[in-house]
Amino acid sequence: MIADIVVDLQYGDCGKGKIAHVLCKEEKYTHVIRYNGGCNAGHTIYHNGEKFITHHIPCGVFFGIKSIIGPGCVVHPDSFFKEIEDLESRGIQAKELVKVAANAHLITDFHRIQDSEESDIGTTRRGNGPAYRDKYARKGVRAIDDPRFSNYIVNMYEEIYENEDFQQKEIKILFEGAQGFGLDIDWGDYPFVTSSHCTVGSAILNGVPPKFIRNTWGVAKIYETYVGAKNFEGPDEIFESIRELGEEYGSTTGRPRQINWLDFDLLKMAARINGINNLVINKVDILEKLKSWCLYSGPTLYEFNNKEDMEFWIKSKLLLEVDEDIQVFFSGDKEFI
Ligand code: IMP
Ligand code: MG
Repeated sequence: MIADIVVDLQYGDCGKGKIAHVLCKEEKYTHVIRYNGGCNAGHTIYHNGEKFITHHIPCGVFFGIKSIIGPGCVVHPDSFFKEIEDLESRGIQAKELVKVAANAHLITDFHRIQDSEESDIGTTRRGNGPAYRDKYARKGVRAIDDPRFSNYIVNMYEEIYENEDFQQKEIKILFEGAQGFGLDIDWGDYPFVTSSHCTVGSAILNGVPPKFIRNTWGVAKIYETYVGAKNFEGPDEIFESIRELGEEYGSTTGRPRQINWLDFDLLKMAARINGINNLVINKVDILEKLKSWCLYSGPTLYEFNNKEDMEFWIKSKLLLEVDEDIQVFFSGDKEFI
């Protein structure tokens, strides 16, 4: 068995969907597994020139790969079935390919109401926090308990270790994460966080131990965005232009994302804690259009003359301070599609 992981190193919306989609195109995965979060996520994917936004469903469906919503996730049934129907109506075989782990927990309509009433940290109001709260309070409802899921249920242990279609050694999994390091329940800026684990640890909790992990793909952006109630955006007027050019509006809620320069120290910490061996830094083309190249390290704002200087600085610091074997890729927004 081999597993690769895609993990976001900032506040979500860094292009995990794109990277997962590229990896599925290149590698013969037998399974793609979403390992955390619920329909608070919004993954923008371009497939055969068409734009898709997925919330629950992993991107294996675009390539005929079995796509599982893992036990670390929470699922809102109506949104899930709507997503299935939307994909089917656009020719994607979601009904056949998508499975839900028996022990994934459900987001109920009541969770959504609670989330809307309590949303003081600016949640997506998708019921995520209340669903995880009930899960950990041992009052939750699991997918296997809801008859509507009967055709979709999968037992993760049997699927991975006792699969009749594959010998265990033939199994090749891509773990697709949601949200990001800055939103992680433990490592993020609490309480301005989501209610799940957003690091590689979370992928492993879904049933695949560390010895099978091959590549960990960290995904970041050359600048930062955040959606939620805390003040995040810097005072610089350029952030307005970045928002427009980068189309930085939430793909789930449509809210404008707050913008700031890259926080190198956060990136470094996320790279270390996730143990990445590949890093994609997206949306370099957006700063290129504006000819502005800045980042923070601690309180110091570094300004670079050009793209090459900024990329060189980031890459050399990461290789020196985190791991000299990390492969670093800089990418434009729609590159690799
Ligand atoms: P919740 O996950 O809906 O509880 O929201 C908690 C925080 O995480 C809020 O600041 C949300 O805006 C943020 N958040 C949740 N999911 C995403 C995502 O997929 N992308 C970006 N921000 C997210
Ligand atoms: Mg998103």
